[in-house]
Amino acid sequence: MTRSLLTPADLGRKGFLEMLDRAAALKEAKRTGTERPALTGRNIALVFQKDSTRTRCAFEVAAHDQGAHVTYLGPSGSHLGREESVADTARVLGSMFDGIEFRGFGQETVEELARHAGVPVWNGLTDEWHPTQMLADVLTMREHHSGEIGSISFCFTGDGRSNIARSLLITGAMLGVDVRIAAPAELSPPEPLVQEAQCLAAATGARVRITDDPATALDGAAFVYTDVWVSMGEPDAEWDRRVPLLTPYRVTAETMAATGRPDTRFLHCLPAVHDTTTELGRRIHRRYGLAGAEVADEVFTSAASVVFQQAENRLHTIKAVLVAALGE
Ligand code: CP
Ligand code: NVA
Repeated sequence: MTRSLLTPADLGRKGFLEMLDRAAALKEAKRTGTERPALTGRNIALVFQKDSTRTRCAFEVAAHDQGAHVTYLGPSGSHLGREESVADTARVLGSMFDGIEFRGFGQETVEELARHAGVPVWNGLTDEWHPTQMLADVLTMREHHSGEIGSISFCFTGDGRSNIARSLLITGAMLGVDVRIAAPAELSPPEPLVQEAQCLAAATGARVRITDDPATALDGAAFVYTDVWVSMGEPDAEWDRRVPLLTPYRVTAETMAATGRPDTRFLHCLPAVHDTTTELGRRIHRRYGLAGAEVADEVFTSAASVVFQQAENRLHTIKAVLVAALGE
């Protein structure tokens, strides 16, 4: 088993589910005050070329809970990518640290880092993938689902090309669940990725549906998931194109009702544009007359919304990844 985690498929179905079991046990140990540090004396580098609240904090708290030390390298302040190549940085960090988390732009950067570091590398989000997020998402689904993992159904609605939609598509296909993606044709997941998902589904029994019709995708879904309409690193000007394209895909009370299930839960990786309390939310309100973008506040704050449980699960799942890779 590789100890790095670069894409959502890296763990395989069995490894992914085992990681969830490990995370659930660590969550329970923390809750009951019986957690035993397995990473004493380990050093972990956290390299972020993009901003983060959850991922950074989850890595830091997970490491501290387990007795490890962390060093944070932010978007500025190190030589990475400017005066020093990714390969050279990888060799340097690999000689000092036991593991490296990396958040950045192109997936090729984290792959290059992993090739040269000689220690485990964990992808904390790239333009293409967000594998640690998938562990938290499926753990949260499992906590709200009574049957077998294969009987889970979820519908992602919104930007089907985002790192989150792409990751959900592959994760769902790998786990054998019922995956639906509702997105306008222009923002539909790329064809090779859909083929990859279909290939995985043929082996796992997953159902994969990609459609531009939200009603078809929502029917019977146990979970509704969305993500921001413009991701980190994309030009601000994209909002003008995305708002009209994606407004039919925003999650409202009607969207939730369209599943036809009273027990459907709402998921979001966060941060979310759901009201006008943020600078971005106010800008969207002023320019497009929308209060909230990808999700309406009435859904975000409803009893169906499990987004903060999902956010907390980032900690337990990332801790599982660290302990699996570096624990005794
Ligand atoms: N969901 C997530 O990755 O959040 P951050 O950008 O805050 O890390
Ligand atoms: N698609 C979003 C996810 C944030 C966690 C982004 O990349 O900005």
